[in-house]
Amino acid sequence: MLFLGSILVASLFSTCAFGRSGDNCSPATKTFKQKVDHIGDSREVFQQQYQVIDEYFHPGGPIIFYQGGEATDMICLHDLILPTWAKDLGALAITLEHRFFGDSKPNNHANLTKRYETLNLENVMQDSAHFIKWIKSTVNGAENSTVIATGGSYAGYLSTMLRQNHPETFHGAIGWSAPLRGFGYSKSNSHLYDWYRAVSNIYREHSAEAAQKIKHAIISLQDSIKKMKSSNDIEALASRYNLCSTPQNASDLSAFLETVEDSFSQNTQLSWGANAPILPGRKGFPLQRLINTTLSASSYQEIVNASLSLLFEGNRCVDWTDTNGTYVNNELLPYQYILCTYVPIVNPGIPNGTIFPAHETPIDELIASCQQTYGISPEDGKLLEEKHHYSAADLNNATRLFLTYGGIDPVMSYGAVELLGRVANIPNGAGVAILSQAGHAEDMSAPYPGQRKAFEICRIRS
Ligand SMILES: *[C@@H]1O[C@H](CO)[C@@H](O)[C@H](O)[C@H]1NC(C)=O
Ligand SMILES: *[C@@H]1O[C@H](CO)[C@@H](O)[C@H](O)[C@H]1NC(C)=O
Ligand SMILES: *[C@@H]1O[C@H](CO)[C@@H](O)[C@H](O)[C@H]1NC(C)=O
Ligand SMILES: *[C@@H]1O[C@H](CO)[C@@H](O)[C@H](O)[C@H]1NC(C)=O
Ligand SMILES: *[C@@H]1O[C@H](CO)[C@@H](O)[C@H](O)[C@H]1NC(C)=O
Ligand SMILES: *[C@@H]1O[C@H](CO)[C@@H](O)[C@H](O)[C@H]1NC(C)=O
Ligand SMILES: *[C@@H]1O[C@H](CO)[C@@H](O)[C@H](O)[C@H]1NC(C)=O
Ligand SMILES: *[C@@H]1O[C@H](CO)[C@@H](O)[C@H](O)[C@H]1NC(C)=O
Repeated sequence: MLFLGSILVASLFSTCAFGRSGDNCSPATKTFKQKVDHIGDSREVFQQQYQVIDEYFHPGGPIIFYQGGEATDMICLHDLILPTWAKDLGALAITLEHRFFGDSKPNNHANLTKRYETLNLENVMQDSAHFIKWIKSTVNGAENSTVIATGGSYAGYLSTMLRQNHPETFHGAIGWSAPLRGFGYSKSNSHLYDWYRAVSNIYREHSAEAAQKIKHAIISLQDSIKKMKSSNDIEALASRYNLCSTPQNASDLSAFLETVEDSFSQNTQLSWGANAPILPGRKGFPLQRLINTTLSASSYQEIVNASLSLLFEGNRCVDWTDTNGTYVNNELLPYQYILCTYVPIVNPGIPNGTIFPAHETPIDELIASCQQTYGISPEDGKLLEEKHHYSAADLNNATRLFLTYGGIDPVMSYGAVELLGRVANIPNGAGVAILSQAGHAEDMSAPYPGQRKAFEICRIRS
């Protein structure tokens, strides 16, 4: 999932908190030999994890490929819509774990600059193209199958890249909640403040009264933190909000405050219906539940507590340091590297005029942090768009590309929404749909109880 918020202040010691990656997949995952570097001449290989569901496949039928993303624990096909589609279409459903995530590790150098030398877009795309070639040559009747790439969030961006840059392999692509705009660690990036503007609007549109109460709750929390004098005050705060550890100093306290703001943002982004399979442990509809609790709350603490406890639902305590990457199944270290290089999405600041206290986007600090941690600098957003063919002009000409965004997901503000409602002047021109009450990439999920009807419409149209 695209996780924006306190990324760079969060600790980078994410470990696999869910056991071995792919363990829960059925049929079982396997591994195949992949080149460590498709670009140089090195013959080094690593084991890359994949999964195949072939029970619905009719020889000659299509291949639906789910591109792995930034998950610590690889997303199994049965948690996705792919098997449902495979059944309808007589298709082969396959997925490949992303290099450097889960169990698919090309190397484990202690030096991060060295470790991630081969973590670039071209290698990621070539991994998928080679995997598909291998599948086509080994699965009976798949030799001439057309291939549709799919993916959610960062992997939705990747599925778009596969279609745009490797059309010889990928006949079409579906991207769920794919960030494609607003890249670049630069003051000239016009999307720098879009994220919290979108979050704020989502609350205001759902309930002006709740939005106003949230605004006051955060100001009150901020004031009370400013007034804290002793460690006893901080202990009391930690105990009231069930924090996993007690903040030690002013910068910890501001990290906690950011987590609170982030929780309001994640509770819209991740506001899925009941039991969304890709993030178990939640009861669903956090946005609606948070608004309801806010409306009936009689103190600001109740509102803050409601937002935190909804985000950390299923955990025993509120991990404001996100030490274990618990709330999104993201493997932070390689993902952060990607956000520092070819998907340069800036940790968002907060503009004036939202329900959250404004603060600048600390661009210089973010660039310094990429340099410090990985020894690299983010790439230029405009150049990337052109190099990898996803500028507005490119997508205007793109074919067999279908993008969806959730209407209560702030990622929509990083979407290629300029395509929305346009009439393509070429056959099979790219299209965009917004699912009004959907959370982040919710429509990529396997059907589940409580799922909203719009996704069924999407399913038929796709
Ligand atoms: C890590 O590797 C990079 C690239 O090879 C090198 O420039 C850097 O000095 C190394 N860092 C450390 C701490 O050894
Ligand atoms: C795939 O296409 C090639 C070239 O048209 C053809 O020779 C081959 O028989 C086809 N394979 C299958 C399994 O249909
Ligand atoms: C604040 O405390 C944390 C431990 O919770 C520590 O890692 C950090 O370095 C401290 N920061 C400052 C500015 O003292
Ligand atoms: C929120 O409150 C409304 C109005 O009382 C109710 O219809 C709705 O079911 C509640 N939503 C949730 C998720 O509790
Ligand atoms: C915070 O919310 C949780 C979940 O609703 C609840 O169990 C807990 O009692 C609340 N804590 C306080 C101090 O209100
Ligand atoms: C992180 O995970 C480890 C191992 O499962 C656990 O012992 C630790 O308590 C977790 N930390 C937090 C803050 O949840
Ligand atoms: C908010 O407005 C104040 C006063 O005009 C200005 O100084 C500040 O830079 C603005 N903050 C942001 C994040 O735009
Ligand atoms: C889009 O298509 C038109 C007409 O074929 C072509 O002139 C133009 O160069 C294309 N633009 C891009 C960015 O591919």
